Amino acid sequence: MQRHSGGMIGNSLSLCYHNKLILAPMVRVGTLPMRLLALDYGADIVYCEELIDLKMLQCKRVVNEVLNTVDFVAPDDRVVFRTCEREKNKVVFQMGTSDAERALAVARLVENDVAGIDVNMGCPKEYSTKGGMGAALLSDPDKIEKILSTLVKGTHRPVTCKIRILPSLEDTLNLVKRIERTGISAIAVHGRNREERPQHPVSCEAIRAIAETLSIPVIANGGSHDHIQQYLDIEDFRQATAASSVMVARAAMWNPSIFLKDGLRPLEEVMQKYLRYAMQYDNHYTNTKYCLCQMLREQLESPQGRLLHAAQSSQEICEAFGFGAFYEETIRKLDARRADLLAKTPEAVEEPTEDTSGIIKMAIRFDRRAYPPQITPKMCLLEWCRREKLPQPVYETVQRPVDRMFCSVVTVAEQRYQSTLWDKSKKLAEQTAAIVCLRSQGLPEGRLGEENPSLNKRKREAPDQDLGGPRVQEPVLPGEICKKPFVTLGSSEDNLLEGC
Ligand code: FNR
Repeated sequence: MQRHSGGMIGNSLSLCYHNKLILAPMVRVGTLPMRLLALDYGADIVYCEELIDLKMLQCKRVVNEVLNTVDFVAPDDRVVFRTCEREKNKVVFQMGTSDAERALAVARLVENDVAGIDVNMGCPKEYSTKGGMGAALLSDPDKIEKILSTLVKGTHRPVTCKIRILPSLEDTLNLVKRIERTGISAIAVHGRNREERPQHPVSCEAIRAIAETLSIPVIANGGSHDHIQQYLDIEDFRQATAASSVMVARAAMWNPSIFLKDGLRPLEEVMQKYLRYAMQYDNHYTNTKYCLCQMLREQLESPQGRLLHAAQSSQEICEAFGFGAFYEETIRKLDARRADLLAKTPEAVEEPTEDTSGIIKMAIRFDRRAYPPQITPKMCLLEWCRREKLPQPVYETVQRPVDRMFCSVVTVAEQRYQSTLWDKSKKLAEQTAAIVCLRSQGLPEGRLGEENPSLNKRKREAPDQDLGGPRVQEPVLPGEICKKPFVTLGSSEDNLLEGC
């Protein structure tokens, strides 16, 4: 493809869609590490995976100072969308929606952190079409018009949509003309209809007819496998479709270096680069594993493939690639950065008070960021009770109907402890109660930067039955780096929208 170095992306409010190499939206694949990798290899624009409007509307925008990212975080602390400064002018946010007002609310939520807004109108899967989203929109042009024109008027980012073709060319052309009149900046066309699957041939003719009919840029999609196997094929596909730009999905998922002018890089190198980003941005291990499996494809039966297949954590994935030391180093750095930030914002010291019912109370809340992934206050309290030969702590939790918040009372050695602040979940409330107990007695609670000899000792001494010796890195205490609010639970989309 002919590459234009100048004028690719204009000021932050415009995104040029001429002569661009574009990473397609892909559920599970299109998270931050893959997008950054595609940019490294020469993609000009990257789309995120499709994110559903209702889910996005529950999210809060959080600046993540540990990872240097902007996170959109759901009430359950899952990161639904993570982005960063590096891709700000290049990332297009794709949403699934069937409602103009909701779509606009989502656009407004993310518009200052992304370069463009896209609506997916191509997903043929039932869970999407059932809600009137995805390919269901293709048979409701009035709704398409409403959604797109509302977005064009209401957001200051360029708006695009991604469609599939209709069974008749005439209907397709009528639809795209109507779509163009809404004022969108470009249209991506997957050259298959909603009944067709990847094994069906993509219709370059239909994309060409659309490109010749419209004045806005048309982005050709659907060429992986049959047409696109290497860099030079991308330009051939563009010419065959007379499109302005090309959007690549599967070929980029199999090897993101497809965007590299000098040709594909060896998979081993690509996977290692991907893994570095996945660790750096604390990608959820299931998502990392999925992407690496897609790259390994035919080699899943190799020794490395088997190790990857069996991996149940980021650490095990890293070890499968000989990156064990890199994993340790990344965790150490992230923990240090977290501790550093916490040290700069010291928590107000709360004095415990005993109320008339004899319960010791403090106004505190459990902040997951203040603790390493494997350690919680509850664990510390349990460990301390064991050491002191006390009965296990007993937690009693209540939920108040007014706002459905939780409060927990923990009983230790016949004394009850409770926070005066209420929490969003039972789990959090129990951790908070444990902190009140530990803190009011001056006991270690496992916070970052605080030594907890007993827990560490237990970790080191866990015997390995198979090897007959100590298993130094055995994670006695469960927990994955992704469990912290500051870090990702990766994509919340567990559904695979393959073939959208
Ligand atoms: C997809 N596709 C897709 N499309 C979309 O608009 N939003 C999405 O979230 C997804 N998710 C997705 C996941 C996976 C794993 C695959 C393989 C595909 C469809 C994709 O963007 C593209 O339209 C098709 O794959 C056809 O393009 P290629 O693969 O021939 O380049």
